Amino acid sequence: MNRRTFLKQAAWACGGTAALAASGCGTLSGQAGVRSSSMLGFSAEPLKKIRIGVIGVGARGTGAVKRLPKIPNVTITALSDLREERVTLNQKILKDNGLPEAKGYSGSPEAWRALCESSDVDLVYICTPWWWHTPMSVMAMKCGKHAATEIPAGVTVDECWELVETSEKTRRHCMMLENCCYGENELLMLNLCRQGVLGDLVHGEGAYIHEMRASKWREEQEGGRQGRWRLEWSRKHTGNPYPCHGLGPVCQYMNINRGDSLEYLNSVSTDPFGLAPFGAAKYGPDSPEARIKIKQGDMNTSIIRTRRGRTIMLQHDTTSPRPYSRLNLISGTKGIAADYPLRVALEPDYHKWMDDNKLAELVGQYRHPLWRESGDKAKKAGGHGGMDFLMELRLCHCLQHGLPLDMDVYDAALWSSIVELSERSVLRRGAPMDIPDFTRGGWKTAEPLGIVTL
Ligand SMILES: NC(=O)c1ccc[n+]([C@@H]2O[C@H](COP(=O)([O-])OP(=O)(O)OC[C@H]3O[C@@H](n4cnc5c(N)ncnc54)[C@H](O)[C@@H]3O)[C@@H](O)[C@H]2O)c1
Repeated sequence: MNRRTFLKQAAWACGGTAALAASGCGTLSGQAGVRSSSMLGFSAEPLKKIRIGVIGVGARGTGAVKRLPKIPNVTITALSDLREERVTLNQKILKDNGLPEAKGYSGSPEAWRALCESSDVDLVYICTPWWWHTPMSVMAMKCGKHAATEIPAGVTVDECWELVETSEKTRRHCMMLENCCYGENELLMLNLCRQGVLGDLVHGEGAYIHEMRASKWREEQEGGRQGRWRLEWSRKHTGNPYPCHGLGPVCQYMNINRGDSLEYLNSVSTDPFGLAPFGAAKYGPDSPEARIKIKQGDMNTSIIRTRRGRTIMLQHDTTSPRPYSRLNLISGTKGIAADYPLRVALEPDYHKWMDDNKLAELVGQYRHPLWRESGDKAKKAGGHGGMDFLMELRLCHCLQHGLPLDMDVYDAALWSSIVELSERSVLRRGAPMDIPDFTRGGWKTAEPLGIVTL
C-alpha cells in the first residue's frame, strides 16, 4: 500500500460521522501478522441459564426484549439506551409480563459501558445504530461477555479485523444477528443445498431491496429514529451499507469460510435519484432539505467471486419504489431455487419453474427441521414472521449446550466488510477489491455448516 492509497483509505474511513471517527477508525494498518488461536468451530463453556443485557432499546431492541424471555432459562438482566424513557418503557414490558426488573443504564452515550462491566450479564445483545456495533461488541468481549450484534457488525474493514482479533484473544463469541439466515425459505434452501438437490453450487444472488424513503426522512416527532441516522449515512457514503441480509444466507448455502472463501468484488452504483426529491416534496422546493446532497446511489450492484470459482451477485436499493426483495437465489449443477416468490426448477425439467403442486410437495419434503419443529412457536413470538425468534432460539440453544455458533466472528467480519469494500470499488469505477480472508486460511479445513437443528 503506497502512502497515497493509505491516506485515501484513512480519509474514507474517517469521512463518516463523528461517532464513527470516535470509534477508533483510521488505524488501517496493523492487522497483518496477528496470529491467535482460531475461533473456527469454537465452543464456549455451556451456560445453563443465560443472562442478557440489551443495548439500544429502540424499535429493534424492544422487539428482542419481548421475544428473548420466551426462551427457557433466558433472562433479561440489564437494559441500556441513550434515552432513559426507552429503558423505562422496556422495564414496563418486563414487568407487564411478570418478569423481574432489569438494571437500567442510560443518560449518556457511554452509559452502556457499565452494562458490559456488570457481573449480571453473560451475553450483550446490541441493537444500536451501525457505527456503535463494533465498539460495543469489543467492549463486551473484553469484559468477558459473549456479544451478539445487529447488522452490519462493523462499518470498516479495520473494525471487522478488530472484532476477529478481540474474539480470538478473549475466547468469547461474537455473532452477528443475521436473522435472514433463519427465514423459512432461506432454511428450506439451505436444506436443499445440504441434501444435494441442487448439485454443486455455482452462483447465488442476494439483496436488500426495501423502499425506505419516508422512513429515512421521518423526523423524531413523527416517530423517526435517532436524528435520521440512516439519512446521514446516505449523505456521507455510497456502495452497499447493508449487505448482510442478502449475502449471509448465500454464504451459508455455499459454505463460505467453511470450504470456500470470498476472493474479490467489483461494485457499481447508479446515481442517487430518489432520496433528495422525496425531501423536496416533503419540505418544499425552496427548503434547505431540497438542496441536500446524497452520496449513496439508489441501486448498488456488486459481483463477488469465490476462491473455488463461484459467483454471488449482491444488490442494495432502499430508495426506489418497488416491492421488497432479498432475491435469495441459489443455482447449481442440478437446478435452481429462487425467492420472491419461491420458485424451483430441477433437472430434467429445468427449462420451467415447477408448478404449484410439485413445489408444495418439494417444500413439504424439505421443510427445514427448525421450522417444522418450532415454526408455530416462532410465528407466535414474532419478529419478521418468526425468523428473529428462531435465530435467538438457536443462538441460546448453542450457548446452553456449549456448541459452536452457526454464524461466527469470521462470518460477521466477512459479510460486514462489504460495506467498505463496495464503497471503495464504486469510487474507483467498479475496480476489483480483494476481500480479506479473516480466517487466515482456516476456511480450507473448517467443518462445513450442518443442517442446523435444536
Ligand atoms: N435484522 C433486522 O431485520 C433489522 C431490522 C431493523 C433494524 N436493524 C438494525 O438494528 C439496529 C437498530 O435499529 P433500530 O431500527 O432499532 O433503530 P432505533 O433508532 O429505533 O434504535 C436504536 C436505539 O439505540 C439507541 N442508542 C443510540 N446510541 C446509543 C448509545 N451510545 N448507547 C445506548 N443506546 C444508544 C437509541 O437511543 C435508540 O433507542 C440497526 O443497526 C439496524 O440496522 C436490523
